[in-house]
Amino acid sequence: MAVTTERMESVAAAFRTGAQSYGNFGATLYSVLCAGGADDPDIIELAAHAQAGAQPVFHLLTVIHYLVLGSPHDPLGRYFATLHDPPRPADEAWPEFTRFCRERRSQIVDTLASTTVQTTFADRCATMVPLFAFVADRVGEPLNLIEIGCSAGVLLTFDRYAYAYKNREPFGAQGAPLTFTGEFSGDPPLRLPLVGSRTGLDLHPVHADNADERRWLIALIFPEFRKQREELATALEVVAQTDIRLVEGDALNTLPGVLAETADPVCIFHSVCLSYWTEEARAALDAMLIEASRTRTIHRVGSEPSARFSAWNKGHNRSETSKPPPSGELTIARYAGGVMDSRIVGTNGFGEPVTWLGWEGKAST
Ligand SMILES: C[S@@+](CC[C@H](N)C(=O)[O-])C[C@H]1O[C@@H](n2cnc3c(N)ncnc32)[C@H](O)[C@@H]1O
Repeated sequence: MAVTTERMESVAAAFRTGAQSYGNFGATLYSVLCAGGADDPDIIELAAHAQAGAQPVFHLLTVIHYLVLGSPHDPLGRYFATLHDPPRPADEAWPEFTRFCRERRSQIVDTLASTTVQTTFADRCATMVPLFAFVADRVGEPLNLIEIGCSAGVLLTFDRYAYAYKNREPFGAQGAPLTFTGEFSGDPPLRLPLVGSRTGLDLHPVHADNADERRWLIALIFPEFRKQREELATALEVVAQTDIRLVEGDALNTLPGVLAETADPVCIFHSVCLSYWTEEARAALDAMLIEASRTRTIHRVGSEPSARFSAWNKGHNRSETSKPPPSGELTIARYAGGVMDSRIVGTNGFGEPVTWLGWEGKAST
């Protein structure tokens, strides 16, 4: 299908902003490739095949990363920090990149059509811990967890790791393969509650025991992000050894049945998922949980980028020099007796401590 001029222009704009914003993130290779892509109609047209709703440039670069990981001897691989330490200088990568895109064009288009962007970072567990502890303090444990938008389900194994937050007593699972760090201001509850059942809902659940699917998740991490990649690889091993029920489909459709089958105390959670939903979809989720809460108490906790960040991330208000705005939000919603009480209990920004506001924080909008 021919790509419209409008789509070509918006993808070209995404390449231009990517050159700046990937640089800000320390993703040097992607920054250089974006600078080249912004002036190359063939590369722009290729990225235009990305899935609707995905950032086209990131989707294309991730597909290239994935294919290179599958062909580690291709000369393009020498520029990826995933495969070489150190990699060749990023600013020399462009000729090999365009050669790879030409030679593998149909494979790239097919992979764009068969994959979705579902990035997951294991260290997101560190932000979720006080939310789970807060709910467990209120309703008891073991908590039966249901994650909306679980990707591979890494966050469903948060209790298998150790935590060493700045200026706090370390705690965690015996013999944990990973220790996550972080910083909180305020007085968050920091402990590991017991976990009962673990259920992950996703449009496309990723199976941690499938090497190809694992490769896709690794490819979704910027090549230069070595620590995050190694943590994810370790966490995926943990996930593969943990009893997690994965349910495929739109959570708005699958959650009612899963919730009905899940015993109390139940804690629904989400991370970097609902912020991509429409307002109508989020309202439908609340309406469903309000209805379900006529006979039981349900908690939903979330760690999501704020609306301001989401707008920036979709490219609506990026300027050439814009850095990501701070302001992730931690929320807790309690549904009981057909009534919802939802609060923002914490806020965070890039590289900043999480500000724990607590239940008295502020009413969420
Ligand atoms: C950015 S990933 C985040 C994964 C994980 N929660 C984390 O924070 O590491 C968002 C995930 O939500 C899933 N997702 C988005 N909308 C969904 C929906 N309506 N129902 C189920 N899953 C959904 C996507 O497929 C993707 O795997």
